[in-house]
Amino acid sequence: MEQSFWLQKWQKNEIGFHNPEAHALLVKHFPQLGLQPGARLFLPLCGKTLDIRWLLEQGYRVAGAELSETAIQQLFAELALTPQVAEQGELKRYSAENLDVFVGDMFQLQREALGSVDAIYDRAALVALPENMRVDYAAHLQQITGSASQLLISFDYDQNLQPGPPFCVSDEEIQRLYSGAYQLQLVDAVEVPGGLKGKVTALEKVWLLQANR
Ligand SMILES: C[S@@+](CC[C@H](N)C(=O)[O-])C[C@H]1O[C@@H](n2cnc3c(N)ncnc32)[C@H](O)[C@@H]1O
Repeated sequence: MEQSFWLQKWQKNEIGFHNPEAHALLVKHFPQLGLQPGARLFLPLCGKTLDIRWLLEQGYRVAGAELSETAIQQLFAELALTPQVAEQGELKRYSAENLDVFVGDMFQLQREALGSVDAIYDRAALVALPENMRVDYAAHLQQITGSASQLLISFDYDQNLQPGPPFCVSDEEIQRLYSGAYQLQLVDAVEVPGGLKGKVTALEKVWLLQANR
């Protein structure tokens, strides 16, 4: 997906992917990450998800990466937080207590700038990217986080019936992308109520990825 595709979506407020509350599968499966209070989570391609609010309310620290500055201005406004904004190389960093969001292309985010991460939560990030970007995405994500554990939510459906995003990412592809560094466990699979975009039967799958150490 071109960056202009996403920037236009935010400009036109066509954000059907944005949930009005924390994701039920995050709330259900988050404890399986086994994190200590105050642990720091990284949310790649975070948008203005209310999952950030939920994680902050649970006492965790959050880092995000998002292309659209509009999204992040809305995120901070909706959290009633006033950000400190600083240039960080090619990116901007929006910060408030326990929250840092890097605004710009996630592929430009470096490990030193991101800082230490205890776990990754990927909802609608891997599946937002076309197949030809997913290998680079998975490698970069592992590189900048030191292969931190992940809770990953994917979509599984017949890609012939509907184009992405969100894309179908098969179990085999997830294994290919991540089995070099992680033990993978499929912990849940639930049918999307009413079908994906109200049309196509789809499963939302929850994966727990724990680093091989
Ligand atoms: C499908 S949305 C998901 C947002 C969020 N994870 C959620 O669950 O609401 C994908 C997001 O990725 C952002 N994005 C796309 N390409 C990106 C990139 N290269 N770097 C950072 N963010 C990107 C888009 O602007 C969009 O907000």
